[in-house]
Amino acid sequence: MSAIGANSGGTGAGRKLRLGMVGGGDGAFIGAVHRIAARLDDCYEVVAGALSSDAERAQRSGAAIGLSSDRVYSDYRTMARLEAAREDGIDVVAIVTPNHLHAPVATAFLEAGIHVICDKPLGISLAEGQALADLAHARQRVFALTHTYTGYPMVRHARELVESGAIGDVRLVHVEYAQDWMAEADNQAAEFQSTNWHNDPKRAGPTGCTGDIGTHAFQIAGFVSGIQPNQIMAELHSFTPNRILDDHVQVMLRYPNGARGMLWASQMATGCENGLKLRVFGTKASLAFDQENPNELWLTPQGGSAQRLTRGRVRGAAAEAATRVPSGHPEGYLEAFAQLYRDAAAQIHAVNAGLPVPAASAWLPTVVDGVAGMKFIDAVLASDEAGSRWVDLAV
Ligand SMILES: NC(=O)c1ccc[n+]([C@@H]2O[C@H](COP(=O)([O-])OP(=O)(O)OC[C@H]3O[C@@H](n4cnc5c(N)ncnc54)[C@H](O)[C@@H]3O)[C@@H](O)[C@H]2O)c1
Repeated sequence: MSAIGANSGGTGAGRKLRLGMVGGGDGAFIGAVHRIAARLDDCYEVVAGALSSDAERAQRSGAAIGLSSDRVYSDYRTMARLEAAREDGIDVVAIVTPNHLHAPVATAFLEAGIHVICDKPLGISLAEGQALADLAHARQRVFALTHTYTGYPMVRHARELVESGAIGDVRLVHVEYAQDWMAEADNQAAEFQSTNWHNDPKRAGPTGCTGDIGTHAFQIAGFVSGIQPNQIMAELHSFTPNRILDDHVQVMLRYPNGARGMLWASQMATGCENGLKLRVFGTKASLAFDQENPNELWLTPQGGSAQRLTRGRVRGAAAEAATRVPSGHPEGYLEAFAQLYRDAAAQIHAVNAGLPVPAASAWLPTVVDGVAGMKFIDAVLASDEAGSRWVDLAV
């Protein structure tokens, strides 16, 4: 299979899916990224949205992206009801609101029979996450969770290498996610801390940095290593005056096979932009991936020299299927995001046709990853509250 031909657009399953969006209005961050990702492979058209709960802002935001005014809503429940009733209603909704709305919005659309692509974390409590998993299962709807970084070809290649036994038995998993945006002067200000949803437990959930980026680190570590910790020891910390929630977390991990691990995530790591880095050490070799250089993966055999594996050059079904342009032409974050949209489209077409989910899309993060992330958050909180003691984790 040639790398460029492997993934040059569409799903091969026919018409574009009709996508609606909740959140992602004027000035929002991730909604626009979702819309780019959805369009990149010609799998979706964006046709409806409740882009804001403010009616005027919702209309302005909808007009800016070319939505017909009768398909702009300011209430997601109305949107779910009216879109489900239309012959040309949406097939799937993208949820890009602050965390506290993920579960209520997803519930409304699942109950209306509409597939869901939701951003992370899954919600603000494990109970609502589990209820969502049950509902998605009962309604037989696709529920994708956009843990973006698992869409990178070299991350998928890393997983394939681990599964093939190329690095031997996994002994050590080290993942870090270092950002510095919370340390910006504006974001340290009391006003930001008292108004922004990232520091409001009612909207962000019971953790800050842990839910925001710690869940990404936790998910990618399990995605690549193929193992999940069964015990953790955690410390939450805030360096920021007036901050209610953590802006830093450090976690030790124990695995049932005897492996050990470390995870730390920080939004106060001076000078770091979006430093998600993963290392997995096996009995034969180790792997290293750096999100800011996503076209490469390092493989180092025991006692040998490091090999730089590059996107478009490595041979492996998973990496090739997630590659769009030839080696040397950099791909990045948007393509990784688009890969999740492409996987979700393949699954939605299959489910709609009553067919099994295509194997090539099986690595799409789902509500199952979301529930695991909520369990991780709860375990971190339990450990921290107990004075950083070891606690059990069952994901
Ligand atoms: N996958 C990733 O890498 C990634 C990156 C950034 C953010 N996120 C997640 O995406 C979500 C949104 O984050 P963001 O940074 O874009 O936030 P944001 O504050 O920039 O945008 C949130 C949007 O939701 C809208 N909104 C709020 N309440 C609404 C309602 N009732 N109805 C309709 N719209 C409503 C706001 O008007 C705004 O447009 C969060 O859950 C965050 O964790 C994921």
